[in-house]
Amino acid sequence: MVAPTRPELVLSARDVVKSFGSTRVLDGVSLDVRRGEAVVIIGPSGSGKTTFLRCVNHLEPIDGGHIHVNGHPVGYREGANGPVERTPRAIAKSRRSIGFVFQKFNLFPHLTALDNVSAAPIRVLGVPKQQARDEARALLDRVGLASKEAAYPGALSGGQQQRVAIARALAMKPALMLFDEPTSALDPEMVGEVIAVMKELAADGMTMLVVSHEMGFARSAADRMVMFDEGAIVEQGTPAELIDSPSTQRTRSFLSRLA
Ligand SMILES: Nc1ncnc2c1ncn2[C@@H]1O[C@H](COP(=O)(O)OP(=O)(O)O)[C@@H](O)[C@H]1O
Ligand SMILES: [Mg+2]
Repeated sequence: MVAPTRPELVLSARDVVKSFGSTRVLDGVSLDVRRGEAVVIIGPSGSGKTTFLRCVNHLEPIDGGHIHVNGHPVGYREGANGPVERTPRAIAKSRRSIGFVFQKFNLFPHLTALDNVSAAPIRVLGVPKQQARDEARALLDRVGLASKEAAYPGALSGGQQQRVAIARALAMKPALMLFDEPTSALDPEMVGEVIAVMKELAADGMTMLVVSHEMGFARSAADRMVMFDEGAIVEQGTPAELIDSPSTQRTRSFLSRLA
């Protein structure tokens, strides 16, 4: 397991293989994301997009290849006979540098928006309570929810909940933000407010890996697009290349079904 020598690589995934039982879901995925880059992944349902993000965060152990985030292997350490899975405690620690925004928000229902955002910095990072709350307020303001700090998730719309979830991930000051179809569970009228926040993040230089079929977002915010099919990357390029002149039939037919 050779550590990537290029410090600009926040994510370096090499030949990642993942099976569930006898089904090979990731079949040798290699993908780099440089600091400040926003990369959008597209591809049909079941092609392994979520599994790949979960492997990056070591929510799933991998069966082959390796993944480095900020130069460190995720979930494993070098053993005499190859990679050895780290302890849950060490895994949790390496996961701190990676923010994950889920399709279904996953906020803590019994905590206010402010407490959702400040909880992990206080409990996990040991940030003093007042400082964590001040930072959480600034983050809620950044996602346009300054007035909702006392609201519980149940009182917020889906779009508002997803913006709280983004603020919560940012509160850990991650080096890499993963988004798994963050707008696909939203009513159409709420997609724009979440996309607007994500566009701002990308413009501010956040390193992002985003599974999304919002082509407007991809076109305006992505530095690169990647097409997944059957557990492999079949094509990648700039958004214009992929969207306007895809080089594979699989990408062409997938995009035509999106429209
Ligand atoms: N925990 C699991 N156990 C068994 N099969 C799984 C599991 N998670 C995902 N899969 C399978 O892996 C394949 C890829 O799934 P997924 O990564 O969710 O695809 P996508 O996000 O591109 O829709 C699918 O065939 C799915 O059924
Ligand atoms: Mg998925």
